[in-house]
Amino acid sequence: MTTAKRIDGKAKAEQLAGTITEQTASLLSEHGIKPGLAVVIIGEDPASQVYVRNKKRRAESCGFYSVQHSIPADTTQEEVLRLIDELNNDDAIHGILVQLPLPDHLDEQTITQSISPSKDVDGFHFVNIGKLTAGHTDDAFIPCTPAGCMLMIEDELGKDLSGLNAVVMGRSNIVGKPMASLLMKQNATVTITHSRTKDLPQVVAGADIVIAAIGRAEMVKADWVKPGAVVIDVGINRVEKTIDGETKSKLVGDVDYDDVCSVAKAVTPVPGGVGPMTITMLMFNTLRSARLAAGLEG
Ligand code: GUN
Repeated sequence: MTTAKRIDGKAKAEQLAGTITEQTASLLSEHGIKPGLAVVIIGEDPASQVYVRNKKRRAESCGFYSVQHSIPADTTQEEVLRLIDELNNDDAIHGILVQLPLPDHLDEQTITQSISPSKDVDGFHFVNIGKLTAGHTDDAFIPCTPAGCMLMIEDELGKDLSGLNAVVMGRSNIVGKPMASLLMKQNATVTITHSRTKDLPQVVAGADIVIAAIGRAEMVKADWVKPGAVVIDVGINRVEKTIDGETKSKLVGDVDYDDVCSVAKAVTPVPGGVGPMTITMLMFNTLRSARLAAGLEG
């Protein structure tokens, strides 16, 4: 029985963050510019609080100017739009991120589309989505999760994915659709599956590259996976597990990691795979935005 390589997203993210920190220091010493990231969090969602805290910590460790706007769940849409307008016009801010999900009374589309495309480090603005879909990645902000997944895929398989089949499980705007665009740009043959897909295991079995972004704990099993495939697990699911008679809460992905390791070539673990890369790509996008604002190459 083979055992897949564990793709160490944490180590790769640390390495990349080191390069970003060095480039941030040069930008400051040579051009007097400090990348500025503003994160807006609305309400008290506990998972969002953790994500935002990690983003702030990472921004500070890279040497960025980092501001967090924590505003109450009952803030009106007009107040949120006013804050975004202020941040759009603040020269010290190069990246704006409004943490999702939003409270029900706020309109996600209006809010994400009100962020200036040049500060949209999440890559959710239609201008950036359009550029990515058209293959103009040089001057687009790419959503952080798929951008991080692509760097890990590139480490395993190189930049040119000609002749390889990729199956993206999940059709979200944050992961599935941009992931498919990036894979196509690198010449992969891409299938997107979703909740209405027929014979899902059979479709996945044809994939040299599997991206699981469905939000179902440990759904992808070894007998779904082609021997030698590269498997990227975007899922983060909290489950109760009983080990040695003790029940504990644990984070697992959409992939049954131990099972799939018996057939795949390489698999990302959860935690320690895609998650740390996603945060680091946010720093990458913010540094890039600061460089572009200063008239430098991104
Ligand atoms: N919530 C979960 N993932 C994300 C993300 O990538 N960006 C934002 N803004 N909110 C999220």
